[in-house]
Amino acid sequence: MGNVVVGQETAELKLDGKVYQLPVVVGSEGEKAIDIRALRAQSGYITLDSGFMNTGSCCSSITFLDGEQGILSYRGYGIEELAENCTFVEVAYLLDHGSLPTQTELSKFSQMLGKYAMIHEDMIRFFDGYPPNSPPMAILSSMVSSLCSFYPEMLDNPLENIEEMAARLISKVRTIAAFSYKKSMGQPLVYPRHDLSYCANFLNMMFDSPVNPYVINDTVVRALNKLLILHGDHEQNCSTATVRVAGSARVNLYASISAGINALWGPLHGGANQAVMEMLTQIHEEGGDYKKYIAKAKDPADPFRLVGFGHRVYKTHDPRALIIKKACDDVLSALNISDPLLDIAKELEEVALKDPYFVERNLYPNVDFYSGIIYRAIGIPTNMFTVMFALGRLPGWIAHWKEMWDDPDWRISRPRQVYVGPKRRPFVPLAERT
Ligand code: CMC
Repeated sequence: MGNVVVGQETAELKLDGKVYQLPVVVGSEGEKAIDIRALRAQSGYITLDSGFMNTGSCCSSITFLDGEQGILSYRGYGIEELAENCTFVEVAYLLDHGSLPTQTELSKFSQMLGKYAMIHEDMIRFFDGYPPNSPPMAILSSMVSSLCSFYPEMLDNPLENIEEMAARLISKVRTIAAFSYKKSMGQPLVYPRHDLSYCANFLNMMFDSPVNPYVINDTVVRALNKLLILHGDHEQNCSTATVRVAGSARVNLYASISAGINALWGPLHGGANQAVMEMLTQIHEEGGDYKKYIAKAKDPADPFRLVGFGHRVYKTHDPRALIIKKACDDVLSALNISDPLLDIAKELEEVALKDPYFVERNLYPNVDFYSGIIYRAIGIPTNMFTVMFALGRLPGWIAHWKEMWDDPDWRISRPRQVYVGPKRRPFVPLAERT
């Protein structure tokens, strides 16, 4: 189990008059876990944990997260320092290689991103098959799945070729994302350029047009780098767990990432950034009565949730949300934009953070609460927000897929269940059923 240490302690479990000793393992930041892998073989019992609230599915050396203290680090580096000092490409390299790149390594990786930026011309025809207003996440996941038909040569020895596969995916997903936007707008595609940085290239592919050349703005490029870095990884979240589960069946990287994109699409996960903007827009259009939405969120009879609030693991401020909130102010003032949705978001946050319902349940703004306001300020349309999340999360998914593939403790993911259906009963032939 990687670098995990089997601790001195053991957990003792008394069942049916017998005592079972379960090993306790300790992670590098001191988190403890009871290793129950032998429990069923020894006792006949399984553990039940719907939603995996309390289940460690693997040992991982990629991201550390302390939800009680609001700490997040990638490969040992604090998210605050990475967001302040790095480009997204450096952080993607860090996540996928385990260490920050030297200048030479970064240049080599950037060259690979440049080399792989185009997509096969035949794939471009796929875009024509989608009806107008197709969800961009549907297009993205099927395009990524299709990549294995066009680039199958690296599938046999994935770990030997992982660096190239990672660069290929990170570069091509950016191109696919921008092309899907251009297609949805009915505008000509803008091809990637070798002379532009990763984020500048994306923005240029999104917004350049034959009649209105895009002017790259450093503030916008910096903001995009920051947002993508903050979404880079988040340990065993729903989409990453999906990538690992799919990949555990030894399916290829492209198919596993496509599965992750589909999981991310959900409004409780990556789809929340779009849902936040829709909620804020609705509040604004209804005259700014945000208190009505707080009351709805608190009403147990109403399924409505205050989107952008709450998190499975953070029981305090999401450190990413704190950075994004500040970046929001910086970007809007640098671009000289005043957004009424930012004012509504701040008011909502202030009221919710004092409200006993939210306080008792430890509900704080999450990464998605303010990110949409920055995306909107830099011109990204709302229906592309979750695609942006996917772009940021991609290096994390790749790192987890690689770690899973290479794990000496790898097994196909196959949870058990407690069956609660009918007991075995006699079969009734069709003619005799009443
Ligand atoms: N608004 C109102 N009530 C909430 C909210 C919310 N946003 N989130 C949780 N609660 C309540 C929930 O109703 C429950 O109350 P009670 O104990 O009275 O039944 C309590 O808080 C615990 O909630 P839970 O659903 O058991 O918590 P969970 O860990 O299963 O769900 C969550 C986490 C993120 C799905 C949830 O907080 C939520 O639906 N938030 C809104 C959607 C959102 O912003 N998602 C983005 C998450 S961050 C990006 C990412 O990593 O994907």
